[in-house]
Amino acid sequence: MTQTFQIFIDGAYCDAATGQWFDTLDPYTGETWAQIPRCGAEDVDRAVAAARRAMTTGPWATMTATQRGKIMHRLGDLVAEHADRLAALEVRDNGKLLAEMAGQLKYHPEWWYYYGGLADKIEGSVVPIDKPDLFTYTTHEPVGVVAAITAWNSPLLFIAWKCAPALAAGCSVVIKPSEFTSASTLAFMELTKQAGFPDGVWNVVTGFGPEVGAELVAHKDVAKITFTGSDTTGRKIYEAAARGLKRVSLELGGKSPNIVFADADLDAAVAGAVSGIFAATGQTCIAGSRLLVQNSIKDAFTEKMLAVARDARMGDPMQPDTHIGPVTTQPQFQKILSYIDIAKSEGARCIFGGNRAQGPGLENGLFVEPTIFTDVSNSMRIAQEEVFGPVLSIIGFDEEEDAVQLGNDVIYGLAAGVWTKDIARAMRMSKALKAGIVWVNTYRVISYMMPFGGVKQSGIGRESGIRAIEEFLETKAVWISTSDAPPANPFIQR
Ligand code: NAI
Ligand code: MG
Repeated sequence: MTQTFQIFIDGAYCDAATGQWFDTLDPYTGETWAQIPRCGAEDVDRAVAAARRAMTTGPWATMTATQRGKIMHRLGDLVAEHADRLAALEVRDNGKLLAEMAGQLKYHPEWWYYYGGLADKIEGSVVPIDKPDLFTYTTHEPVGVVAAITAWNSPLLFIAWKCAPALAAGCSVVIKPSEFTSASTLAFMELTKQAGFPDGVWNVVTGFGPEVGAELVAHKDVAKITFTGSDTTGRKIYEAAARGLKRVSLELGGKSPNIVFADADLDAAVAGAVSGIFAATGQTCIAGSRLLVQNSIKDAFTEKMLAVARDARMGDPMQPDTHIGPVTTQPQFQKILSYIDIAKSEGARCIFGGNRAQGPGLENGLFVEPTIFTDVSNSMRIAQEEVFGPVLSIIGFDEEEDAVQLGNDVIYGLAAGVWTKDIARAMRMSKALKAGIVWVNTYRVISYMMPFGGVKQSGIGRESGIRAIEEFLETKAVWISTSDAPPANPFIQR
């Protein structure tokens, strides 16, 4: 029996105007487990209209920022209460480990608490203006209806990252989750209702990127798009947004270097390298997919990596002792296998994995073996292009400046890892690496307090942290004359 989901518009669940649904797969069983509404332009229009009403005439528009923050706080409490159920739903749809998703969902409320608390601390300023007889100040206002377009790897986390600052700013949202993982976002809407958000503040339309996502981006009443996904789609969205002069933030991919110096704590570095590429089956934008290892320790380090990789258990993502779950989508599965072929044909040496995974419990799922390539040169496609899977390229280097040069020699700039016990080197590297995030002697750690996002082709803007709210605010400059003198010459500017 498959479950049938409904979309969420103006505070109520409903069917798509098209009257159509599409299948969503459980990537572990390979079976369809739910039906998701296939929306079209009419649904987008209804959702955006509801969001706009909420922001202009609804109670959301007139309530104080403190009241907004309290509702957000209640949502955080509800997510905490329902974390296990939501985590299981995520795992069913995207195949990531329950152990990781449960942890993520238990942490998720922090975004609601943090931005709920920030909502009433958005202060303008009085400007000590240079002109006499004027009182001048700035205020910050919500940018408008926000379209949040999300990817399949962490659907509910992306909602927190995007919608918590947007709602704290006073915006309303229309979410378009990935067509591969829409269920958790739809289920989440029940909690927004319980928390007490007015109708229209939250809306979700589901369906395919070119059909629904593109309609949403182009809609005249959407003011801002916040997107997580591929750089290819990010570029399309940026172009479409330019036509309407809309604001965007884009969190795109990466080809992040994880750089190990000979003076590092090697056990810690191995754990960091493994977490960088095999956690989440490598399906994370911050994957440390290029492991740069100082040549003097390269062979020994590779041996240690192999020992951990050999012990990695693939299987049912719901089981607590599984290390590596399936790949989330069929196209992604094909893409990873094709990159493995490309790497082999380019002359990289596959020393571990390199195939579709076989074995008991893996028959029906989209499993790829954890894969390690050595003899990789940084100019190979396997070192330059985002694979988004458990495929590691090991690249040797001699000197610190070589590590910097190789580390930066990609179009992306999302994250970088540095492993060394030398504090001066750690600081030099942190400065020299062109990346939005640098981790030193750790990897893949995130917080609601720390900005997340990339430079170069990894995107535009930052999520999380105090300044993320600015992505959803406009500044208004107010000029008040305090003069009672007769008007000056009206033909020249003051
Ligand atoms: P995608 O970028 O095509 O999809 C992300 C979202 O954008 C989905 O909700 C999709 O429906 C929507 N979308 C697609 N085309 C659109 C359009 N023309 N206008 C508006 N919205 C549109 O990513 P996909 O196909 O799921 O994965 C492809 C690759 O993207 C992966 O192999 C990986 O390299 C990368 N990726 C990066 C992520 C990240 O965290 N930065 C997350 C997921 C994928
Ligand atoms: Mg699915």
